[in-house]
Amino acid sequence: MIIKENTPLSKFTTFRIGGNARFFAEPKNQDELEEALLFASGKGLPSLILGGGSNILIADEGYPGLVIKMGIKGIEVRERGEEVRVSASAGEDWDLFVGMCVEKEFYGIENLSAIPGSVGASPIQNIGAYGVEVKDVISSVEVYDKKNKAIKVLTNTDCQFDYRDSFFKKDDGKNFVVTKVNFILSKKKKLNIEYADVKKFFLEKEINDPNIKDVREAIITIRKNKLPDVKLLGTAGSFFKNPIISKAKLDDLLKKYPDLPFHLVAENKAKIPIAWVIDNVCCLKGSRVGQVGLYENQALVVVNYGTASAKEVMEFAHEIARKVKEKTDLEIFPEVQIIK
Ligand code: EPU
Repeated sequence: MIIKENTPLSKFTTFRIGGNARFFAEPKNQDELEEALLFASGKGLPSLILGGGSNILIADEGYPGLVIKMGIKGIEVRERGEEVRVSASAGEDWDLFVGMCVEKEFYGIENLSAIPGSVGASPIQNIGAYGVEVKDVISSVEVYDKKNKAIKVLTNTDCQFDYRDSFFKKDDGKNFVVTKVNFILSKKKKLNIEYADVKKFFLEKEINDPNIKDVREAIITIRKNKLPDVKLLGTAGSFFKNPIISKAKLDDLLKKYPDLPFHLVAENKAKIPIAWVIDNVCCLKGSRVGQVGLYENQALVVVNYGTASAKEVMEFAHEIARKVKEKTDLEIFPEVQIIK
């Protein structure tokens, strides 16, 4: 396997931002992954795994260690009655994988259509959209344990999934490299079309009994209308996580902003769509500073209009967070992984 030096990372991230990787490798199988990791540890350098580069902001200074672009491919399907077990290697493209499952009428991930990125990245931040999170269909995750130099299998519980969070984001979890994700899907028709945008889509199209392909089509259309096309504009999707707050705090906010939408996520906790706050309270949707802005159709999405630097994006994001705090006292944190 070739290990390159001084490789520009901007072309490997959908933000189109990032300096050079000191070293860069693209392992195509487990042995090559191990070889790459040993190369880095042998030199005393850190390593960074890159999937589709769609949820990451890499510093203008680049990365001082080895960047590993995950290239392990392969999909296996085992059907057992109504249940379908599908294993997908980390380097598979997420949406091609979803498309394949929809084509075969395997139910479970159609609502996660058109999310940029790789299969291996999906459990890390527990990707979610339109009422489905990937944790709902993951049975286990295969990882390479950097410390013990061995493959391990983590169960769904071991992964400690939460809203845009998992064990892999914690300090201990950083010892593991995802190599394969095992899913349990179903051949029995079961669709989740309760999310407001999805319901509205079918109502307008007068589709009463959608099938799995209709749902994928709906999600692709909804996302196309709201989110920028990563082929045309630099972005990493939602920049911030939606904050989860106490019921008391929610009641305070509702006194001030009676139209504020919220979702109860536990008995005493509510999730606030911060895009609504940025848009309707701070009136910042579509705002722009130089080459950085908030997308005109979705206020949670930071975009690079061309030549923005990571520093500019971070300054812009800090300013958004500051204004949200000033108006609502809500603290918001990046959803995008920031590599300094
Ligand atoms: N809204 C506004 N103004 C806006 C955008 C949204 O007022 O500019 C309002 C909407 O009317 C709606 C609410 O805010 O009432 C929520 O908006 P939306 O349905 O677009 O969802 P979101 O909470 O902003 C989350 C995910 C998205 C995912 C959508 C759809 C996070 C951080 N983001 O966004 O995921 O596509 O739900 O389920 O949880 C991503 O992670 O990169 C991403 C795009």
